[in-house]
Amino acid sequence: MSVTVIEGSQWGDEGKGKITDYLASKSDVVVRFQGGNNAGHTICFNGKRFALRSLPSGIFNPNITNVIADGVVLNPFSLKEEIEGINASGIKEFKLIISDRCHLIMPYHLDLDGAYESLLNNNKIGTTKKGIGPCYVDKAARRGIRAGDLLEPEFLKSKLIDTLKVKNIELKSLGLKEYDFDTLYNQLLEIGAYLKKYIADTQYFLINSVKENKKILFEGAQGMMLDIDRGTYPYVTSSSPSSNYVPQGAGIPPRAIDNVVAICKAYTTRVGEGPFPTELDNEIGNLIREKGHEYGTVTKRPRRVGYLDLVVVKRNLEMSGANTIALMLFDVLTNIDNLKICVNYELDGKIIDYIPASLSDYSKCKPIYKTFKKFNFDQNIKSFDELPVEAKEYISFIEEYTGVKIGIISIGSDRNATIIK
Ligand code: IMO
Ligand code: MG
Repeated sequence: MSVTVIEGSQWGDEGKGKITDYLASKSDVVVRFQGGNNAGHTICFNGKRFALRSLPSGIFNPNITNVIADGVVLNPFSLKEEIEGINASGIKEFKLIISDRCHLIMPYHLDLDGAYESLLNNNKIGTTKKGIGPCYVDKAARRGIRAGDLLEPEFLKSKLIDTLKVKNIELKSLGLKEYDFDTLYNQLLEIGAYLKKYIADTQYFLINSVKENKKILFEGAQGMMLDIDRGTYPYVTSSSPSSNYVPQGAGIPPRAIDNVVAICKAYTTRVGEGPFPTELDNEIGNLIREKGHEYGTVTKRPRRVGYLDLVVVKRNLEMSGANTIALMLFDVLTNIDNLKICVNYELDGKIIDYIPASLSDYSKCKPIYKTFKKFNFDQNIKSFDELPVEAKEYISFIEEYTGVKIGIISIGSDRNATIIK
Protein backbone atom coordinates (compact mmCIF):
# COMPACT_ATOMS: atom_id res chain seq x y z
CA MET A 1 0.00 0.00 0.00
CA SER A 2 2.17 2.85 -1.11
CA VAL A 3 -0.31 5.72 -1.43
CA THR A 4 -2.50 6.35 1.63
CA VAL A 5 -4.96 9.14 2.37
CA ILE A 6 -5.98 10.19 5.86
CA GLU A 7 -9.30 11.98 6.04
CA GLY A 8 -11.56 13.26 8.79
CA SER A 9 -14.97 11.57 8.65
CA GLN A 10 -16.80 14.05 10.91
CA TRP A 11 -16.52 17.80 11.54
CA GLY A 12 -12.73 17.98 11.95
CA ASP A 13 -10.65 17.52 15.11
CA GLU A 14 -11.00 13.74 14.89
CA GLY A 15 -7.42 13.17 16.03
CA LYS A 16 -5.91 13.08 12.55
CA GLY A 17 -2.58 14.41 13.86
CA LYS A 18 -1.84 11.33 15.96
CA ILE A 19 -2.54 8.86 13.15
CA THR A 20 -0.75 10.99 10.58
CA ASP A 21 2.27 11.09 12.87
CA TYR A 22 2.09 7.31 13.28
CA LEU A 23 1.75 6.60 9.54
CA ALA A 24 4.19 9.36 8.57
CA SER A 25 6.99 7.46 10.27
CA LYS A 26 6.45 4.72 7.67
CA SER A 27 6.29 7.15 4.72
CA ASP A 28 8.75 8.74 2.30
CA VAL A 29 6.51 11.70 1.50
CA VAL A 30 3.77 13.49 3.49
CA VAL A 31 1.46 15.86 1.64
CA ARG A 32 -1.10 18.53 2.57
CA PHE A 33 -3.45 18.84 -0.40
CA GLN A 34 -6.23 21.25 0.71
CA GLY A 35 -7.16 23.79 3.39
CA GLY A 36 -4.62 25.94 5.15
CA ASN A 37 -3.69 27.05 8.63
CA ASN A 38 -7.27 26.64 9.79
CA ALA A 39 -6.04 23.14 10.61
CA GLY A 40 -4.47 22.41 13.97
CA HIS A 41 -2.77 19.03 13.97
CA THR A 42 -1.36 18.15 17.35
CA ILE A 43 1.79 16.08 17.26
CA CYS A 44 3.61 14.92 20.39
CA PHE A 45 7.34 14.81 19.72
CA ASN A 46 10.27 14.51 22.16
CA GLY A 47 7.87 15.03 25.06
CA LYS A 48 6.56 18.29 23.60
CA ARG A 49 3.23 19.06 21.94
CA PHE A 50 3.24 20.85 18.60
CA ALA A 51 0.16 22.21 16.88
CA LEU A 52 1.06 22.11 13.19
CA ARG A 53 -0.98 24.47 11.04
CA SER A 54 0.32 24.34 7.47
CA LEU A 55 3.39 22.18 7.80
CA PRO A 56 2.77 18.51 7.00
CA SER A 57 3.13 16.10 9.91
CA GLY A 58 6.30 14.47 8.63
CA ILE A 59 8.29 17.63 9.34
CA PHE A 60 10.01 16.23 12.44
CA ASN A 61 11.56 13.37 10.49
CA PRO A 62 14.55 14.47 8.38
CA ASN A 63 14.10 11.56 5.96
CA ILE A 64 10.57 12.52 4.94
CA THR A 65 9.83 14.98 2.14
CA ASN A 66 6.95 17.21 3.21
CA VAL A 67 4.83 18.72 0.48
CA ILE A 68 2.42 21.64 0.52
CA ALA A 69 0.57 20.88 -2.71
CA ASP A 70 -1.41 22.93 -5.26
CA GLY A 71 -4.81 22.74 -3.52
CA VAL A 72 -3.60 24.31 -0.26
CA VAL A 73 -4.04 27.99 0.59
CA LEU A 74 -0.86 29.12 2.29
CA ASN A 75 -0.22 32.06 4.58
CA PRO A 76 3.48 32.64 3.90
CA PHE A 77 3.95 34.85 6.96
CA SER A 78 2.46 32.36 9.38
CA LEU A 79 4.40 29.55 7.68
CA LYS A 80 7.60 31.45 8.45
CA GLU A 81 6.58 31.67 12.11
CA GLU A 82 5.79 27.97 12.12
CA ILE A 83 9.20 27.13 10.64
CA GLU A 84 10.92 29.41 13.16
CA GLY A 85 8.95 27.70 15.93
CA ILE A 86 10.16 24.23 15.03
CA ASN A 87 13.70 25.58 14.47
CA ALA A 88 13.64 27.03 17.97
CA SER A 89 12.75 23.61 19.35
CA GLY A 90 15.92 22.18 17.82
CA ILE A 91 14.62 20.90 14.47
CA LYS A 92 16.91 22.49 11.90
CA GLU A 93 16.96 19.78 9.28
CA PHE A 94 13.80 19.02 7.38
CA LYS A 95 12.65 18.55 3.82
CA LEU A 96 9.86 20.82 2.60
CA ILE A 97 8.54 21.63 -0.87
CA ILE A 98 5.84 24.22 -1.47
CA SER A 99 3.86 24.15 -4.69
CA ASP A 100 4.49 27.13 -6.96
CA ARG A 101 0.79 26.81 -7.83
CA CYS A 102 -0.64 27.10 -4.33
CA HIS A 103 -2.51 30.29 -3.53
CA LEU A 104 -1.29 32.68 -0.89
CA ILE A 105 -3.41 33.95 1.97
CA MET A 106 -2.74 37.67 1.98
CA PRO A 107 -3.14 40.03 4.94
CA TYR A 108 -6.32 41.47 3.41
CA HIS A 109 -7.88 37.99 3.37
CA LEU A 110 -7.68 37.96 7.16
CA ASP A 111 -9.35 41.37 7.36
CA LEU A 112 -12.10 40.27 4.99
CA ASP A 113 -12.72 36.98 6.83
CA GLY A 114 -13.31 38.90 10.05
CA ALA A 115 -15.46 41.56 8.36
CA TYR A 116 -17.75 39.11 6.54
CA GLU A 117 -18.34 37.24 9.79
CA SER A 118 -19.24 40.36 11.71
CA LEU A 119 -21.61 41.52 8.93
CA LEU A 120 -23.64 38.32 9.01
CA ASN A 121 -26.53 38.35 11.42
CA ASN A 122 -28.21 34.98 11.35
CA ASN A 123 -25.76 32.92 9.37
CA LYS A 124 -22.40 33.47 11.02
CA ILE A 125 -20.17 30.55 10.09
CA GLY A 126 -17.81 30.77 13.05
CA THR A 127 -14.70 30.56 10.86
CA THR A 128 -11.19 30.31 12.26
CA LYS A 129 -10.62 33.84 10.84
CA LYS A 130 -7.46 32.70 9.05
CA GLY A 131 -8.57 34.14 5.71
CA ILE A 132 -9.31 30.72 4.19
CA GLY A 133 -12.64 31.59 2.52
CA PRO A 134 -11.55 34.95 1.05
CA CYS A 135 -8.37 33.36 -0.36
CA TYR A 136 -10.31 30.59 -2.12
CA VAL A 137 -12.69 33.30 -3.41
CA ASP A 138 -9.80 35.11 -5.09
CA LYS A 139 -8.47 31.83 -6.45
CA ALA A 140 -11.83 31.11 -8.12
CA ALA A 141 -12.11 34.73 -9.25
CA ARG A 142 -8.69 34.36 -10.89
CA ARG A 143 -7.04 37.20 -9.07
CA GLY A 144 -5.14 35.14 -6.50
CA ILE A 145 -1.43 35.51 -5.86
CA ARG A 146 0.39 32.19 -6.07
CA ALA A 147 3.56 31.06 -4.30
CA GLY A 148 5.40 30.93 -7.64
CA ASP A 149 4.60 34.61 -8.24
CA LEU A 150 6.90 35.50 -5.35
CA LEU A 151 9.81 34.36 -7.49
CA GLU A 152 8.92 36.66 -10.40
CA PRO A 153 9.13 40.22 -9.06
CA GLU A 154 7.96 41.96 -12.27
CA PHE A 155 5.01 39.65 -12.76
CA LEU A 156 4.14 39.89 -9.07
CA LYS A 157 4.19 43.68 -9.35
CA SER A 158 1.75 43.83 -12.26
CA LYS A 159 -0.52 41.23 -10.67
CA LEU A 160 -0.54 42.89 -7.26
CA ILE A 161 -1.32 46.30 -8.77
CA ASP A 162 -4.46 44.88 -10.39
CA THR A 163 -5.49 42.71 -7.45
CA LEU A 164 -5.06 45.53 -4.93
CA LYS A 165 -7.26 47.78 -7.10
CA VAL A 166 -10.14 45.34 -6.62
CA LYS A 167 -9.34 44.46 -3.02
CA ASN A 168 -9.01 48.05 -1.88
CA ILE A 169 -12.45 48.89 -3.30
CA GLU A 170 -13.84 45.94 -1.36
CA LEU A 171 -11.97 46.80 1.83
CA LYS A 172 -13.01 50.45 1.65
CA SER A 173 -16.66 49.57 1.10
CA LEU A 174 -16.53 47.48 4.29
CA GLY A 175 -14.95 50.34 6.24
CA LEU A 176 -11.59 48.53 6.46
CA LYS A 177 -8.12 49.93 5.97
CA GLU A 178 -6.80 49.87 2.41
CA TYR A 179 -3.40 48.40 1.54
CA ASP A 180 -0.48 50.43 0.27
CA PHE A 181 1.08 48.79 -2.79
CA ASP A 182 4.73 49.49 -1.95
CA THR A 183 4.52 48.21 1.61
CA LEU A 184 2.78 44.99 0.69
CA TYR A 185 4.94 44.42 -2.39
CA ASN A 186 8.10 44.73 -0.31
CA GLN A 187 6.74 42.38 2.35
CA LEU A 188 6.01 39.85 -0.37
CA LEU A 189 9.48 40.15 -1.90
CA GLU A 190 10.99 39.64 1.53
CA ILE A 191 8.91 36.58 2.36
CA GLY A 192 9.55 35.31 -1.18
CA ALA A 193 13.29 35.47 -0.57
CA TYR A 194 12.80 33.50 2.66
CA LEU A 195 10.61 30.80 1.07
CA LYS A 196 12.38 30.63 -2.30
CA LYS A 197 14.38 27.51 -1.52
CA TYR A 198 11.19 25.57 -0.77
CA ILE A 199 9.07 26.61 -3.77
CA ALA A 200 8.95 24.08 -6.62
CA ASP A 201 6.68 22.17 -8.98
CA THR A 202 5.23 19.71 -6.45
CA GLN A 203 2.97 18.05 -9.00
CA TYR A 204 6.05 16.97 -10.97
CA PHE A 205 7.65 15.70 -7.78
CA LEU A 206 4.52 13.80 -6.70
CA ILE A 207 3.83 12.18 -10.03
CA ASN A 208 7.41 10.90 -10.08
CA SER A 209 7.10 9.73 -6.49
CA VAL A 210 4.02 7.73 -7.53
CA LYS A 211 5.90 6.23 -10.47
CA GLU A 212 8.81 5.30 -8.20
CA ASN A 213 6.43 3.55 -5.79
CA LYS A 214 7.40 5.83 -2.93
CA LYS A 215 5.28 5.57 0.21
CA ILE A 216 3.14 8.69 0.11
CA LEU A 217 0.77 9.88 2.81
CA PHE A 218 -1.85 12.49 2.02
CA GLU A 219 -2.84 14.33 5.16
CA GLY A 220 -6.39 15.67 5.01
CA ALA A 221 -7.27 18.61 7.21
CA GLN A 222 -10.76 19.39 8.57
CA GLY A 223 -13.50 16.79 8.08
CA MET A 224 -15.95 15.72 5.43
CA MET A 225 -18.94 17.42 7.06
CA LEU A 226 -17.03 20.66 6.43
CA ASP A 227 -16.66 19.87 2.70
CA ILE A 228 -17.65 22.83 0.54
CA ASP A 229 -19.81 20.65 -1.75
CA ARG A 230 -21.18 18.00 0.55
CA GLY A 231 -20.98 19.41 4.04
CA THR A 232 -23.59 21.39 5.95
CA TYR A 233 -23.29 24.41 3.64
CA PRO A 234 -22.79 27.31 4.42
CA TYR A 235 -21.39 26.07 7.75
CA VAL A 236 -18.41 24.51 6.04
CA THR A 237 -14.86 25.34 5.08
CA SER A 238 -13.93 26.42 1.55
CA SER A 239 -12.17 23.26 0.39
CA SER A 240 -12.76 19.51 0.10
CA PRO A 241 -11.10 17.53 2.89
CA SER A 242 -11.63 14.00 1.59
CA SER A 243 -9.70 11.52 -0.52
CA ASN A 244 -12.00 12.51 -3.38
CA TYR A 245 -10.03 15.76 -3.70
CA VAL A 246 -6.50 14.31 -3.49
CA PRO A 247 -6.08 13.79 -7.26
CA GLN A 248 -7.11 17.38 -7.91
CA GLY A 249 -5.35 19.07 -5.02
CA ALA A 250 -2.07 17.24 -5.57
CA GLY A 251 -2.11 16.39 -9.27
CA ILE A 252 -1.98 12.60 -9.18
CA PRO A 253 -4.36 10.13 -10.87
CA PRO A 254 -7.27 8.76 -8.78
CA ARG A 255 -6.12 5.21 -9.46
CA ALA A 256 -2.84 5.92 -7.64
CA ILE A 257 -4.64 5.85 -4.27
CA ASP A 258 -4.30 2.45 -2.59
CA ASN A 259 -5.63 3.05 0.87
CA VAL A 260 -8.04 5.49 2.53
CA VAL A 261 -8.01 5.71 6.32
CA ALA A 262 -11.04 7.48 7.78
CA ILE A 263 -10.36 9.06 11.14
CA CYS A 264 -13.39 8.84 13.38
CA LYS A 265 -13.70 10.13 16.91
CA ALA A 266 -15.56 7.69 19.20
CA TYR A 267 -18.07 10.52 19.77
CA THR A 268 -18.72 13.70 17.77
CA THR A 269 -17.51 17.29 18.08
CA ARG A 270 -18.02 20.41 16.06
CA VAL A 271 -16.63 23.94 16.32
CA GLY A 272 -18.39 26.86 14.74
CA GLU A 273 -22.06 27.14 13.87
CA GLY A 274 -24.42 24.79 12.05
CA PRO A 275 -26.73 21.86 12.75
CA PHE A 276 -25.48 19.00 14.92
CA PRO A 277 -28.20 16.40 15.58
CA THR A 278 -26.48 14.45 18.37
CA GLU A 279 -25.26 17.53 20.28
CA LEU A 280 -25.32 17.11 24.07
CA ASP A 281 -26.04 20.34 25.84
CA ASN A 282 -25.90 18.67 29.25
CA GLU A 283 -23.73 17.09 31.93
CA ILE A 284 -22.59 14.19 29.73
CA GLY A 285 -21.56 16.69 27.04
CA ASN A 286 -19.57 18.67 29.62
CA LEU A 287 -17.96 15.52 30.96
CA ILE A 288 -16.84 14.42 27.49
CA ARG A 289 -15.56 17.93 26.69
CA GLU A 290 -13.37 18.02 29.79
CA LYS A 291 -12.16 14.43 29.55
CA GLY A 292 -11.37 14.79 25.85
CA HIS A 293 -9.84 18.31 26.20
CA GLU A 294 -12.29 19.45 23.56
CA TYR A 295 -11.07 23.00 23.09
CA GLY A 296 -9.91 24.28 19.68
CA THR A 297 -6.21 23.96 18.84
CA VAL A 298 -6.37 27.02 16.61
CA THR A 299 -9.04 29.19 18.23
CA LYS A 300 -9.24 27.72 21.80
CA ARG A 301 -13.04 27.72 21.50
CA PRO A 302 -14.86 25.04 23.53
CA ARG A 303 -16.00 22.45 21.04
CA ARG A 304 -19.61 21.37 20.81
CA VAL A 305 -19.87 17.74 21.88
CA GLY A 306 -22.32 14.93 21.07
CA TYR A 307 -22.78 11.18 20.76
CA LEU A 308 -21.28 9.31 17.83
CA ASP A 309 -23.39 9.87 14.71
CA LEU A 310 -23.00 6.92 12.35
CA VAL A 311 -25.38 8.36 9.76
CA VAL A 312 -22.71 11.01 9.22
CA VAL A 313 -19.75 8.65 9.35
CA LYS A 314 -21.25 5.97 7.08
CA ARG A 315 -22.21 8.48 4.39
CA ASN A 316 -18.70 9.90 4.37
CA LEU A 317 -16.99 6.50 4.31
CA GLU A 318 -19.13 5.41 1.39
CA MET A 319 -18.40 8.59 -0.51
CA SER A 320 -14.64 8.47 -0.10
CA GLY A 321 -14.24 4.70 -0.38
CA ALA A 322 -12.47 4.47 2.96
CA ASN A 323 -11.22 0.95 3.63
CA THR A 324 -10.10 1.36 7.25
CA ILE A 325 -11.33 3.31 10.25
CA ALA A 326 -9.06 4.69 12.96
CA LEU A 327 -11.25 5.09 16.03
CA MET A 328 -9.95 7.93 18.17
CA LEU A 329 -10.32 9.06 21.78
CA PHE A 330 -12.04 5.81 22.72
CA ASP A 331 -10.75 6.13 26.31
CA VAL A 332 -12.83 9.30 26.75
CA LEU A 333 -15.98 7.15 26.65
CA THR A 334 -15.05 4.98 29.65
CA ASN A 335 -17.39 5.04 32.64
CA ILE A 336 -20.36 6.60 30.88
CA ASP A 337 -23.76 5.09 31.58
CA ASN A 338 -26.14 4.41 28.71
CA LEU A 339 -23.72 5.41 25.99
CA LYS A 340 -25.47 6.05 22.68
CA ILE A 341 -24.79 5.85 18.96
CA CYS A 342 -27.06 7.54 16.42
CA VAL A 343 -28.22 5.06 13.77
CA ASN A 344 -30.98 6.99 11.96
CA TYR A 345 -32.73 10.33 12.01
CA GLU A 346 -36.40 11.07 12.38
CA LEU A 347 -37.53 13.85 10.07
CA ASP A 348 -41.19 14.92 10.14
CA GLY A 349 -42.23 11.51 11.44
CA LYS A 350 -40.21 9.58 8.84
CA ILE A 351 -37.11 7.50 9.58
CA ILE A 352 -34.23 8.47 7.30
CA ASP A 353 -30.58 7.39 6.96
CA TYR A 354 -29.19 10.29 4.94
CA ILE A 355 -28.22 13.91 5.50
CA PRO A 356 -30.74 16.33 3.96
CA ALA A 357 -29.21 19.18 1.94
CA SER A 358 -31.78 21.58 3.40
CA LEU A 359 -30.42 23.01 6.61
CA SER A 360 -33.89 23.59 7.99
CA ASP A 361 -34.65 19.89 7.46
CA TYR A 362 -31.31 18.88 8.93
CA SER A 363 -31.95 21.08 11.97
CA LYS A 364 -35.25 19.26 12.51
CA CYS A 365 -33.64 15.80 12.35
CA LYS A 366 -33.91 13.98 15.66
CA PRO A 367 -31.34 11.26 16.33
CA ILE A 368 -32.53 7.68 16.82
CA TYR A 369 -30.15 5.96 19.17
CA LYS A 370 -28.92 2.51 20.02
CA THR A 371 -27.78 2.31 23.65
CA PHE A 372 -24.60 0.60 24.84
CA LYS A 373 -23.46 -0.62 28.24
CA LYS A 374 -20.89 1.23 30.29
CA PHE A 375 -17.28 0.05 29.92
CA ASN A 376 -13.92 0.75 31.46
CA PHE A 377 -10.33 -0.22 30.65
CA ASP A 378 -6.77 0.64 31.50
CA GLN A 379 -4.88 2.96 29.12
CA ASN A 380 -1.89 0.64 29.27
CA ILE A 381 -3.57 -2.28 27.57
CA LYS A 382 -1.91 -3.32 24.35
CA SER A 383 -4.33 -5.54 22.49
CA PHE A 384 -7.93 -5.64 21.36
CA ASP A 385 -8.45 -8.84 23.34
CA GLU A 386 -7.81 -6.99 26.59
CA LEU A 387 -10.81 -4.72 26.05
CA PRO A 388 -13.94 -5.61 28.02
CA VAL A 389 -16.77 -7.21 26.08
CA GLU A 390 -18.94 -4.06 26.38
CA ALA A 391 -16.23 -1.97 24.68
CA LYS A 392 -15.86 -4.61 21.99
CA GLU A 393 -19.59 -4.43 21.35
CA TYR A 394 -19.37 -0.67 20.73
CA ILE A 395 -16.54 -1.28 18.25
CA SER A 396 -18.16 -4.22 16.46
CA PHE A 397 -21.33 -2.23 16.04
CA ILE A 398 -19.46 0.56 14.22
CA GLU A 399 -17.90 -2.01 11.90
CA GLU A 400 -21.20 -3.75 11.20
CA TYR A 401 -23.09 -0.53 10.61
CA THR A 402 -20.51 1.06 8.30
CA GLY A 403 -19.24 -2.13 6.65
CA VAL A 404 -15.66 -0.92 7.23
CA LYS A 405 -13.16 -2.52 9.60
CA ILE A 406 -11.57 -0.58 12.43
CA GLY A 407 -7.81 -1.00 12.07
CA ILE A 408 -6.59 1.31 14.81
CA ILE A 409 -8.08 2.20 18.20
CA SER A 410 -6.60 5.11 20.08
CA ILE A 411 -6.90 4.95 23.87
CA GLY A 412 -4.77 7.94 24.88
CA SER A 413 -2.83 10.85 23.41
CA ASP A 414 0.51 9.10 23.80
CA ARG A 415 1.92 7.35 20.72
CA ASN A 416 1.97 4.07 22.65
CA ALA A 417 -1.67 4.27 23.68
CA THR A 418 -2.68 2.74 20.37
CA ILE A 419 -4.22 -0.65 19.68
CA ILE A 420 -3.65 -2.12 16.24
CA LYS A 421 -6.53 -4.44 15.54
P1 IMO B 1 -8.60 20.28 11.72
O1 IMO B 1 -7.73 19.99 10.54
C1 IMO B 1 -12.47 21.71 13.09
C2 IMO B 1 -14.41 24.93 10.83
C3 IMO B 1 -14.52 26.27 11.53
C4 IMO B 1 -15.81 26.79 10.91
C5 IMO B 1 -15.71 26.28 9.47
C6 IMO B 1 -15.17 27.34 8.51
O2 IMO B 1 -7.89 20.68 12.95
O3 IMO B 1 -9.57 19.16 11.95
P2 IMO B 1 -12.75 28.28 8.01
O4 IMO B 1 -11.80 29.03 8.89
O5 IMO B 1 -12.20 27.00 7.48
O6 IMO B 1 -13.35 29.13 6.93
O7 IMO B 1 -13.98 27.90 8.99
O8 IMO B 1 -14.83 25.17 9.49
N1 IMO B 1 -13.04 24.38 10.78
C7 IMO B 1 -12.59 23.37 11.54
N2 IMO B 1 -13.19 22.69 12.52
N3 IMO B 1 -11.22 21.37 12.74
C8 IMO B 1 -10.60 22.02 11.73
O9 IMO B 1 -9.41 21.61 11.25
C9 IMO B 1 -11.26 23.11 11.10
N4 IMO B 1 -10.95 23.98 10.12
C10 IMO B 1 -12.05 24.74 9.92
O10 IMO B 1 -14.62 26.13 12.92
O11 IMO B 1 -16.92 26.16 11.49
MG1 MG C 1 -8.58 21.46 14.68
